[in-house]
Amino acid sequence: MRLPFIILFLGWLAKQWTLSRGQYPKPSISMIPSHEIFLGEQLSIYCDSPYPNSQQTFQLWHEENQQRWIMNAIAVNRGIFTIPSAQEAHAGKYSCQYCFSSRRCSPWSDHISITITELVYQKPSISVSPSEVVTLGERVTIYCKSEGLQNAEFTLQKRTYFNTYGTMMIKMGEIQFPIVTVDSSGAGIYWCRYCLKSESAFYQRCSNYSDRVSINLTGYWTSKPFIQMMPSEEISPDSNVTIECQGPRNDLTFVLLKSNKATVSKKTGLGKNSTKFHISRVTSEDEGNYTCHYSITNEFIWSVPSDPVELLLTDKSTIPIAIWASIAAGLLLLVLLLFLIAFALHRKRKKSSTFMKNAQPMNTPLEPDTKTEPDEVSYAVLNHNSLRTRQVVDTDNVSESCTYASVAQN
Ligand SMILES: *[C@@H]1O[C@H](CO)[C@@H](O)[C@H](O)[C@H]1NC(C)=O
Ligand SMILES: *[C@@H]1O[C@H](CO)[C@@H](O)[C@H](O)[C@H]1NC(C)=O
Ligand SMILES: *[C@@H]1O[C@H](CO)[C@@H](O)[C@H](O)[C@H]1NC(C)=O
Ligand SMILES: *[C@@H]1O[C@H](CO)[C@@H](O)[C@H](O)[C@H]1NC(C)=O
Ligand SMILES: *[C@@H]1O[C@H](CO)[C@@H](O)[C@H](O)[C@H]1NC(C)=O
Repeated sequence: MRLPFIILFLGWLAKQWTLSRGQYPKPSISMIPSHEIFLGEQLSIYCDSPYPNSQQTFQLWHEENQQRWIMNAIAVNRGIFTIPSAQEAHAGKYSCQYCFSSRRCSPWSDHISITITELVYQKPSISVSPSEVVTLGERVTIYCKSEGLQNAEFTLQKRTYFNTYGTMMIKMGEIQFPIVTVDSSGAGIYWCRYCLKSESAFYQRCSNYSDRVSINLTGYWTSKPFIQMMPSEEISPDSNVTIECQGPRNDLTFVLLKSNKATVSKKTGLGKNSTKFHISRVTSEDEGNYTCHYSITNEFIWSVPSDPVELLLTDKSTIPIAIWASIAAGLLLLVLLLFLIAFALHRKRKKSSTFMKNAQPMNTPLEPDTKTEPDEVSYAVLNHNSLRTRQVVDTDNVSESCTYASVAQN
Protein backbone atom coordinates (compact mmCIF):
# COMPACT_ATOMS: atom_id res chain seq x y z
CA MET A 1 0.00 0.00 0.00
CA ARG A 2 2.74 2.45 0.77
CA LEU A 3 4.95 1.94 -2.24
CA PRO A 4 2.51 3.21 -4.90
CA PHE A 5 1.79 6.26 -2.80
CA ILE A 6 5.48 7.03 -2.51
CA ILE A 7 5.93 6.63 -6.26
CA LEU A 8 3.02 8.99 -6.96
CA PHE A 9 4.38 11.51 -4.50
CA LEU A 10 7.84 11.36 -6.04
CA GLY A 11 6.34 11.81 -9.50
CA TRP A 12 4.42 14.91 -8.40
CA LEU A 13 7.55 16.26 -6.75
CA ALA A 14 9.60 15.74 -9.89
CA LYS A 15 6.98 17.52 -11.98
CA GLN A 16 6.87 20.51 -9.61
CA TRP A 17 10.62 20.64 -9.68
CA THR A 18 10.83 20.69 -13.51
CA LEU A 19 8.04 23.27 -13.66
CA SER A 20 9.80 25.54 -11.22
CA ARG A 21 13.06 25.19 -13.14
CA GLY A 22 11.33 25.94 -16.50
CA GLN A 23 12.25 22.63 -18.09
CA TYR A 24 9.14 21.80 -19.99
CA PRO A 25 8.65 19.32 -22.77
CA LYS A 26 8.16 20.96 -26.19
CA PRO A 27 4.61 21.11 -27.51
CA SER A 28 3.45 19.33 -30.64
CA ILE A 29 2.29 21.33 -33.65
CA SER A 30 -0.16 20.31 -36.38
CA MET A 31 -2.61 21.84 -38.82
CA ILE A 32 -6.03 21.34 -40.36
CA PRO A 33 -6.41 20.69 -43.25
CA SER A 34 -3.35 18.54 -43.19
CA HIS A 35 -3.09 18.35 -46.98
CA GLU A 36 -1.90 21.25 -49.10
CA ILE A 37 -3.52 24.62 -48.61
CA PHE A 38 -5.13 26.41 -51.55
CA LEU A 39 -5.08 30.17 -51.84
CA GLY A 40 -8.03 31.66 -49.96
CA GLU A 41 -8.72 28.52 -47.96
CA GLN A 42 -9.15 28.60 -44.18
CA LEU A 43 -6.53 26.85 -42.10
CA SER A 44 -5.90 26.29 -38.42
CA ILE A 45 -2.63 25.58 -36.64
CA TYR A 46 -2.86 23.57 -33.41
CA CYS A 47 -0.33 23.77 -30.61
CA ASP A 48 -0.73 21.03 -27.99
CA SER A 49 0.74 21.30 -24.53
CA PRO A 50 1.16 18.31 -22.25
CA TYR A 51 -0.41 20.20 -19.30
CA PRO A 52 -4.15 20.01 -19.74
CA ASN A 53 -5.32 21.74 -16.61
CA SER A 54 -2.99 24.69 -16.23
CA GLN A 55 -3.45 28.29 -17.11
CA GLN A 56 -1.09 28.96 -20.00
CA THR A 57 -0.61 31.06 -23.10
CA PHE A 58 0.39 29.81 -26.54
CA GLN A 59 2.66 31.56 -28.98
CA LEU A 60 3.10 30.90 -32.66
CA TRP A 61 6.23 31.92 -34.50
CA HIS A 62 6.25 32.51 -38.28
CA GLU A 63 9.82 32.23 -39.38
CA GLU A 64 9.53 33.95 -42.78
CA ASN A 65 7.75 36.99 -41.41
CA GLN A 66 9.61 37.01 -38.03
CA GLN A 67 6.20 37.47 -36.51
CA ARG A 68 4.86 36.26 -33.19
CA TRP A 69 1.22 35.56 -32.47
CA ILE A 70 0.24 35.31 -28.85
CA MET A 71 -2.88 33.73 -27.62
CA ASN A 72 -4.15 33.19 -24.11
CA ALA A 73 -5.78 29.92 -23.39
CA ILE A 74 -7.01 29.15 -19.92
CA ALA A 75 -7.28 25.58 -18.69
CA VAL A 76 -7.10 24.30 -22.24
CA ASN A 77 -4.20 22.30 -23.46
CA ARG A 78 -4.49 23.40 -27.08
CA GLY A 79 -3.83 26.73 -28.69
CA ILE A 80 -5.67 27.15 -32.00
CA PHE A 81 -4.48 29.77 -34.48
CA THR A 82 -6.86 30.26 -37.38
CA ILE A 83 -6.11 31.93 -40.71
CA PRO A 84 -9.47 32.54 -42.37
CA SER A 85 -8.10 33.07 -45.88
CA ALA A 86 -4.63 31.79 -46.69
CA GLN A 87 -2.52 34.26 -48.67
CA GLU A 88 1.00 34.17 -50.05
CA ALA A 89 2.25 35.99 -46.90
CA HIS A 90 1.07 33.10 -44.73
CA ALA A 91 3.27 30.53 -46.44
CA GLY A 92 6.33 29.28 -44.64
CA LYS A 93 7.56 27.57 -41.48
CA TYR A 94 5.82 27.78 -38.15
CA SER A 95 6.64 26.64 -34.61
CA CYS A 96 4.93 27.20 -31.29
CA GLN A 97 5.43 27.20 -27.51
CA TYR A 98 3.35 27.44 -24.35
CA CYS A 99 4.11 29.62 -21.36
CA PHE A 100 2.99 29.80 -17.76
CA SER A 101 4.42 33.25 -17.34
CA SER A 102 6.67 35.49 -19.36
CA ARG A 103 9.74 33.66 -18.04
CA ARG A 104 8.38 30.15 -17.75
CA CYS A 105 7.97 28.98 -21.31
CA SER A 106 8.43 25.65 -23.04
CA PRO A 107 11.02 25.27 -25.79
CA TRP A 108 9.83 25.83 -29.36
CA SER A 109 8.08 22.94 -31.05
CA ASP A 110 9.28 21.32 -34.25
CA HIS A 111 8.52 23.22 -37.47
CA ILE A 112 5.63 22.67 -39.74
CA SER A 113 5.71 24.02 -43.28
CA ILE A 114 2.68 25.56 -44.89
CA THR A 115 2.79 25.49 -48.65
CA ILE A 116 0.12 27.51 -50.36
CA THR A 117 -1.02 26.57 -53.83
CA GLU A 118 -2.64 28.89 -56.31
CA LEU A 119 -4.55 27.24 -59.17
CA VAL A 120 -3.81 29.31 -62.24
CA TYR A 121 -3.09 27.01 -65.17
CA GLN A 122 -5.35 24.95 -67.42
CA LYS A 123 -5.57 21.31 -66.45
CA PRO A 124 -3.25 18.96 -68.32
CA SER A 125 -4.52 16.15 -70.53
CA ILE A 126 -3.96 12.61 -69.37
CA SER A 127 -3.96 9.40 -71.37
CA VAL A 128 -2.96 5.79 -71.02
CA SER A 129 -1.19 3.67 -73.58
CA PRO A 130 -1.81 1.03 -74.83
CA SER A 131 -5.07 0.61 -72.91
CA GLU A 132 -6.76 1.26 -69.59
CA VAL A 133 -7.48 -2.43 -69.25
CA VAL A 134 -4.21 -4.35 -68.99
CA THR A 135 -3.31 -7.94 -68.43
CA LEU A 136 -1.15 -8.88 -65.49
CA GLY A 137 2.51 -8.36 -66.40
CA GLU A 138 1.83 -5.95 -69.28
CA ARG A 139 3.36 -2.51 -69.29
CA VAL A 140 1.44 0.68 -69.47
CA THR A 141 2.43 4.31 -69.87
CA ILE A 142 0.57 7.28 -68.51
CA TYR A 143 1.01 10.52 -70.42
CA CYS A 144 0.33 13.84 -68.83
CA LYS A 145 0.60 16.85 -71.11
CA SER A 146 0.44 20.58 -70.61
CA GLU A 147 0.26 23.04 -73.45
CA GLY A 148 3.24 25.28 -73.84
CA LEU A 149 4.84 25.32 -70.39
CA GLN A 150 8.53 24.42 -70.37
CA ASN A 151 9.61 24.24 -66.74
CA ALA A 152 6.57 22.64 -65.24
CA GLU A 153 7.01 19.98 -62.63
CA PHE A 154 4.47 17.21 -62.97
CA THR A 155 2.90 15.21 -60.20
CA LEU A 156 1.05 11.99 -60.80
CA GLN A 157 -1.39 10.98 -58.12
CA LYS A 158 -2.98 7.65 -57.62
CA ARG A 159 -5.83 6.19 -55.66
CA THR A 160 -5.98 2.49 -55.18
CA TYR A 161 -8.66 0.34 -53.70
CA PHE A 162 -7.22 0.97 -50.27
CA ASN A 163 -7.65 4.70 -50.70
CA THR A 164 -3.99 5.39 -50.30
CA TYR A 165 -2.75 8.32 -52.26
CA GLY A 166 0.57 7.90 -53.90
CA THR A 167 2.46 10.75 -55.47
CA MET A 168 5.26 10.56 -57.99
CA MET A 169 7.22 13.58 -59.07
CA ILE A 170 9.09 13.82 -62.31
CA LYS A 171 11.81 16.13 -63.49
CA MET A 172 11.28 19.54 -64.95
CA GLY A 173 10.21 19.75 -68.56
CA GLU A 174 9.17 16.16 -68.97
CA ILE A 175 5.70 15.21 -69.98
CA GLN A 176 5.86 11.44 -69.99
CA PHE A 177 5.70 9.42 -66.85
CA PRO A 178 7.96 6.48 -66.36
CA ILE A 179 6.44 3.21 -67.42
CA VAL A 180 4.36 1.72 -64.71
CA THR A 181 4.85 -2.00 -64.50
CA VAL A 182 1.48 -3.17 -63.57
CA ASP A 183 1.24 -5.67 -60.83
CA SER A 184 -1.70 -5.66 -58.50
CA SER A 185 -0.48 -2.44 -56.87
CA GLY A 186 -0.53 -0.50 -60.13
CA ALA A 187 -4.27 -0.87 -60.57
CA GLY A 188 -6.30 2.15 -59.57
CA ILE A 189 -7.21 5.66 -60.57
CA TYR A 190 -4.62 8.19 -61.72
CA TRP A 191 -4.63 11.91 -62.30
CA CYS A 192 -1.96 14.56 -62.64
CA ARG A 193 -1.13 18.23 -62.54
CA TYR A 194 1.87 20.47 -62.97
CA CYS A 195 3.28 23.29 -60.91
CA LEU A 196 5.69 26.15 -61.32
CA LYS A 197 7.50 27.15 -58.16
CA SER A 198 7.65 30.83 -57.34
CA GLU A 199 10.51 32.65 -55.59
CA SER A 200 9.17 31.44 -52.28
CA ALA A 201 9.73 27.77 -51.65
CA PHE A 202 6.39 27.61 -49.88
CA TYR A 203 4.23 29.15 -52.58
CA GLN A 204 3.45 27.44 -55.86
CA ARG A 205 1.32 28.13 -58.90
CA CYS A 206 -0.29 24.98 -60.26
CA SER A 207 -2.72 23.73 -62.82
CA ASN A 208 -6.03 22.18 -61.96
CA TYR A 209 -5.96 18.42 -61.75
CA SER A 210 -6.43 16.52 -64.98
CA ASP A 211 -9.33 14.19 -65.60
CA ARG A 212 -9.03 10.77 -64.04
CA VAL A 213 -8.02 7.61 -65.81
CA SER A 214 -8.28 4.14 -64.41
CA ILE A 215 -5.96 1.23 -64.88
CA ASN A 216 -7.73 -2.07 -64.45
CA LEU A 217 -5.83 -5.27 -64.23
CA THR A 218 -7.32 -8.37 -65.79
CA GLY A 219 -6.17 -11.94 -65.50
CA TYR A 220 -5.37 -11.70 -61.82
CA TRP A 221 -7.92 -14.29 -60.72
CA THR A 222 -7.35 -17.27 -62.93
CA SER A 223 -10.59 -19.23 -62.61
CA LYS A 224 -12.61 -18.41 -65.72
CA PRO A 225 -16.14 -17.04 -65.32
CA PHE A 226 -19.03 -18.41 -67.34
CA ILE A 227 -21.20 -16.22 -69.58
CA GLN A 228 -24.59 -16.86 -71.11
CA MET A 229 -26.89 -14.72 -73.27
CA MET A 230 -30.63 -15.11 -73.42
CA PRO A 231 -31.89 -15.37 -76.08
CA SER A 232 -28.65 -16.53 -77.62
CA GLU A 233 -29.65 -15.96 -81.23
CA GLU A 234 -32.42 -14.55 -83.41
CA ILE A 235 -32.26 -11.25 -81.56
CA SER A 236 -34.50 -8.72 -83.21
CA PRO A 237 -34.18 -4.98 -82.67
CA ASP A 238 -36.13 -3.62 -79.70
CA SER A 239 -36.23 -6.98 -77.97
CA ASN A 240 -34.77 -7.47 -74.49
CA VAL A 241 -31.56 -9.38 -73.87
CA THR A 242 -30.19 -10.77 -70.62
CA ILE A 243 -26.55 -11.63 -70.09
CA GLU A 244 -25.76 -13.80 -67.12
CA CYS A 245 -22.30 -14.04 -65.58
CA GLN A 246 -21.33 -16.83 -63.24
CA GLY A 247 -18.20 -17.06 -61.11
CA PRO A 248 -16.41 -19.74 -59.11
CA ARG A 249 -17.54 -18.48 -55.73
CA ASN A 250 -20.19 -16.38 -54.05
CA ASP A 251 -20.33 -12.64 -53.38
CA LEU A 252 -18.42 -11.34 -56.36
CA THR A 253 -18.66 -8.15 -58.39
CA PHE A 254 -19.03 -8.72 -62.11
CA VAL A 255 -18.06 -6.22 -64.74
CA LEU A 256 -19.49 -6.60 -68.22
CA LEU A 257 -17.16 -5.59 -71.02
CA LYS A 258 -18.30 -4.80 -74.54
CA SER A 259 -15.53 -4.98 -77.11
CA ASN A 260 -13.01 -4.83 -74.25
CA LYS A 261 -14.47 -1.72 -72.63
CA ALA A 262 -16.14 -1.85 -69.24
CA THR A 263 -19.80 -0.98 -69.59
CA VAL A 264 -21.45 -1.77 -66.28
CA SER A 265 -20.69 -3.63 -63.09
CA LYS A 266 -22.96 -5.37 -60.64
CA LYS A 267 -22.63 -7.36 -57.44
CA THR A 268 -24.05 -10.80 -57.14
CA GLY A 269 -26.89 -11.21 -54.71
CA LEU A 270 -25.85 -12.26 -51.21
CA GLY A 271 -24.72 -15.87 -51.24
CA LYS A 272 -24.94 -16.14 -55.03
CA ASN A 273 -22.27 -16.85 -57.63
CA SER A 274 -24.02 -15.19 -60.58
CA THR A 275 -25.65 -11.97 -61.69
CA LYS A 276 -27.74 -10.87 -64.66
CA PHE A 277 -27.32 -7.81 -66.84
CA HIS A 278 -30.43 -6.71 -68.69
CA ILE A 279 -30.25 -4.83 -71.94
CA SER A 280 -33.72 -3.61 -72.85
CA ARG A 281 -34.68 -2.63 -76.38
CA VAL A 282 -31.46 -3.59 -78.08
CA THR A 283 -30.37 -1.45 -81.01
CA SER A 284 -27.48 -1.85 -83.40
CA GLU A 285 -25.40 0.14 -80.88
CA ASP A 286 -25.60 -2.78 -78.49
CA GLU A 287 -24.06 -5.15 -81.01
CA GLY A 288 -20.65 -6.46 -80.09
CA ASN A 289 -18.73 -9.12 -78.25
CA TYR A 290 -19.41 -9.25 -74.53
CA THR A 291 -17.23 -10.79 -71.83
CA CYS A 292 -17.46 -10.74 -68.09
CA HIS A 293 -14.78 -10.51 -65.43
CA TYR A 294 -15.24 -10.71 -61.71
CA SER A 295 -13.45 -8.94 -58.92
CA ILE A 296 -13.39 -10.14 -55.36
CA THR A 297 -12.64 -7.17 -53.16
CA ASN A 298 -10.53 -4.76 -55.19
CA GLU A 299 -12.71 -3.36 -57.96
CA PHE A 300 -9.66 -2.62 -60.15
CA ILE A 301 -8.37 -6.18 -60.11
CA TRP A 302 -10.25 -8.57 -62.33
CA SER A 303 -10.31 -12.22 -63.27
CA VAL A 304 -9.46 -13.68 -66.64
CA PRO A 305 -12.27 -12.95 -69.12
CA SER A 306 -15.09 -15.35 -69.84
CA ASP A 307 -15.50 -16.62 -73.38
CA PRO A 308 -17.07 -13.90 -75.51
CA VAL A 309 -20.73 -13.95 -76.52
CA GLU A 310 -21.69 -12.07 -79.64
CA LEU A 311 -24.78 -9.93 -79.70
CA LEU A 312 -25.87 -9.60 -83.31
CA LEU A 313 -29.27 -8.38 -84.49
CA THR A 314 -30.83 -10.82 -86.94
CA ASP A 315 -33.23 -8.96 -89.17
CA LYS A 316 -31.51 -5.66 -89.42
CA SER A 317 -31.08 -6.14 -93.18
CA THR A 318 -34.84 -6.58 -93.76
CA ILE A 319 -35.57 -3.20 -92.30
CA PRO A 320 -33.57 -1.20 -94.79
CA ILE A 321 -35.03 -3.26 -97.65
CA ALA A 322 -38.58 -2.60 -96.48
CA ILE A 323 -37.75 1.06 -96.07
CA TRP A 324 -36.15 1.30 -99.48
CA ALA A 325 -39.08 -0.53 -101.09
CA SER A 326 -41.63 1.82 -99.58
CA ILE A 327 -39.52 4.86 -100.46
CA ALA A 328 -39.26 3.65 -104.06
CA ALA A 329 -42.99 2.96 -104.27
CA GLY A 330 -43.75 6.37 -102.82
CA LEU A 331 -41.44 8.09 -105.29
CA LEU A 332 -43.02 6.23 -108.18
CA LEU A 333 -46.47 7.31 -107.06
CA LEU A 334 -45.30 10.87 -106.71
CA VAL A 335 -43.83 10.90 -110.19
CA LEU A 336 -47.04 9.47 -111.61
CA LEU A 337 -49.10 12.04 -109.78
CA LEU A 338 -46.90 14.89 -110.96
CA PHE A 339 -47.12 13.60 -114.49
CA LEU A 340 -50.89 13.50 -114.30
CA ILE A 341 -51.08 16.97 -112.83
CA ALA A 342 -48.74 18.32 -115.47
CA PHE A 343 -50.77 16.73 -118.20
CA ALA A 344 -54.04 18.09 -116.83
CA LEU A 345 -52.55 21.56 -116.39
CA HIS A 346 -51.16 21.52 -119.90
CA ARG A 347 -54.53 20.69 -121.35
CA LYS A 348 -56.31 23.27 -119.28
CA ARG A 349 -53.84 25.99 -120.13
CA LYS A 350 -54.21 25.31 -123.83
CA LYS A 351 -57.97 25.75 -123.55
CA SER A 352 -57.95 28.75 -121.27
CA SER A 353 -55.31 30.60 -123.29
CA THR A 354 -57.45 30.67 -126.40
CA PHE A 355 -60.43 31.53 -124.27
CA MET A 356 -58.65 34.45 -122.61
CA LYS A 357 -57.42 35.91 -125.89
CA ASN A 358 -60.81 35.69 -127.42
CA ALA A 359 -62.55 36.98 -124.37
CA GLN A 360 -60.45 40.16 -124.24
CA PRO A 361 -62.95 42.30 -126.11
CA MET A 362 -65.33 41.70 -123.25
CA ASN A 363 -63.39 44.22 -121.17
CA THR A 364 -63.51 46.92 -123.84
CA PRO A 365 -67.22 47.54 -124.06
CA LEU A 366 -66.79 50.87 -125.89
CA GLU A 367 -65.73 48.99 -128.93
CA PRO A 368 -68.90 47.79 -130.56
CA ASP A 369 -68.90 44.11 -131.28
CA THR A 370 -70.84 44.42 -134.48
CA LYS A 371 -68.38 46.78 -136.22
CA THR A 372 -65.59 44.28 -136.43
CA GLU A 373 -65.34 40.85 -137.81
CA PRO A 374 -64.79 38.14 -135.10
CA ASP A 375 -61.49 37.11 -136.74
CA GLU A 376 -60.02 40.60 -136.71
CA VAL A 377 -60.85 41.18 -133.03
CA SER A 378 -59.22 38.05 -131.71
CA TYR A 379 -56.01 38.29 -133.72
CA ALA A 380 -55.30 41.96 -133.77
CA VAL A 381 -52.53 41.62 -131.20
CA LEU A 382 -50.69 38.88 -133.03
CA ASN A 383 -48.29 39.31 -135.87
CA HIS A 384 -49.41 38.71 -139.35
CA ASN A 385 -47.64 35.45 -139.92
CA SER A 386 -49.22 33.73 -136.96
CA LEU A 387 -52.47 35.35 -137.82
CA ARG A 388 -52.48 33.69 -141.15
CA THR A 389 -51.44 30.27 -139.98
CA ARG A 390 -53.84 30.14 -137.06
CA GLN A 391 -56.73 31.64 -138.85
CA VAL A 392 -57.42 28.41 -140.61
CA VAL A 393 -57.00 26.18 -137.57
CA ASP A 394 -58.96 28.13 -135.05
CA THR A 395 -61.96 29.29 -136.99
CA ASP A 396 -64.21 27.04 -134.98
CA ASN A 397 -63.02 28.25 -131.60
CA VAL A 398 -63.04 31.86 -132.63
CA SER A 399 -66.60 31.88 -133.85
CA GLU A 400 -67.63 30.06 -130.71
CA SER A 401 -66.04 32.58 -128.39
CA CYS A 402 -67.43 35.43 -130.40
CA THR A 403 -70.88 34.16 -129.78
CA TYR A 404 -70.06 33.92 -126.09
CA ALA A 405 -68.66 37.41 -125.98
CA SER A 406 -71.64 38.95 -127.55
CA VAL A 407 -73.89 37.18 -125.04
CA ALA A 408 -71.79 38.54 -122.20
CA GLN A 409 -72.03 42.09 -123.55
CA ASN A 410 -75.75 42.02 -123.55
C1 LIG B 1 -10.13 24.87 -62.24
O1 LIG B 1 -11.30 24.09 -62.03
C2 LIG B 1 -12.36 24.83 -61.44
C3 LIG B 1 -13.50 23.88 -61.17
O2 LIG B 1 -13.60 22.89 -62.11
C4 LIG B 1 -12.77 25.97 -62.38
O3 LIG B 1 -13.81 26.73 -61.79
C5 LIG B 1 -11.58 26.86 -62.65
O4 LIG B 1 -11.93 27.85 -63.59
C6 LIG B 1 -10.41 26.04 -63.19
N1 LIG B 1 -9.25 26.89 -63.30
C7 LIG B 1 -8.45 26.92 -64.38
C8 LIG B 1 -7.32 27.86 -64.33
O5 LIG B 1 -8.64 26.19 -65.33
C1 LIG C 1 -38.43 -5.06 -72.42
O1 LIG C 1 -38.22 -4.43 -71.18
C2 LIG C 1 -39.00 -3.25 -70.98
C3 LIG C 1 -38.62 -2.68 -69.66
O2 LIG C 1 -37.26 -2.66 -69.51
C4 LIG C 1 -40.46 -3.62 -71.00
O3 LIG C 1 -41.24 -2.45 -70.88
C5 LIG C 1 -40.81 -4.31 -72.32
O4 LIG C 1 -42.15 -4.75 -72.28
C6 LIG C 1 -39.91 -5.51 -72.55
N1 LIG C 1 -40.14 -6.03 -73.89
C7 LIG C 1 -40.29 -7.33 -74.13
C8 LIG C 1 -40.51 -7.70 -75.55
O5 LIG C 1 -40.21 -8.17 -73.24
C1 LIG D 1 -22.59 -21.42 -59.34
O1 LIG D 1 -23.46 -22.07 -58.43
C2 LIG D 1 -24.28 -23.06 -59.04
C3 LIG D 1 -25.24 -23.60 -58.01
O2 LIG D 1 -24.96 -23.14 -56.73
C4 LIG D 1 -23.40 -24.17 -59.60
O3 LIG D 1 -24.21 -25.14 -60.24
C5 LIG D 1 -22.45 -23.60 -60.64
O4 LIG D 1 -21.57 -24.56 -61.11
C6 LIG D 1 -21.65 -22.45 -60.02
N1 LIG D 1 -20.89 -21.82 -61.09
C7 LIG D 1 -19.57 -21.85 -61.20
C8 LIG D 1 -18.97 -21.16 -62.36
O5 LIG D 1 -18.87 -22.42 -60.37
C1 LIG E 1 -12.05 0.12 -64.36
O1 LIG E 1 -12.74 -0.40 -63.27
C2 LIG E 1 -13.59 0.48 -62.60
C3 LIG E 1 -14.14 -0.24 -61.39
O2 LIG E 1 -14.58 -1.52 -61.72
C4 LIG E 1 -14.69 0.95 -63.55
O3 LIG E 1 -15.52 1.89 -62.92
C5 LIG E 1 -14.05 1.59 -64.77
O4 LIG E 1 -15.04 1.93 -65.71
C6 LIG E 1 -13.04 0.62 -65.40
N1 LIG E 1 -12.35 1.34 -66.48
C7 LIG E 1 -12.24 0.83 -67.72
C8 LIG E 1 -11.54 1.69 -68.69
O5 LIG E 1 -12.66 -0.26 -68.05
C1 LIG F 1 -16.92 -10.46 -82.43
O1 LIG F 1 -15.63 -11.02 -82.53
C2 LIG F 1 -15.42 -11.72 -83.74
C3 LIG F 1 -14.06 -12.39 -83.65
O2 LIG F 1 -13.09 -11.50 -83.21
C4 LIG F 1 -15.52 -10.76 -84.91
O3 LIG F 1 -15.32 -11.44 -86.12
C5 LIG F 1 -16.89 -10.11 -84.90
O4 LIG F 1 -16.98 -9.15 -85.91
C6 LIG F 1 -17.19 -9.46 -83.55
N1 LIG F 1 -18.58 -9.04 -83.55
C7 LIG F 1 -18.98 -7.78 -83.41
C8 LIG F 1 -20.44 -7.53 -83.47
O5 LIG F 1 -18.18 -6.87 -83.23
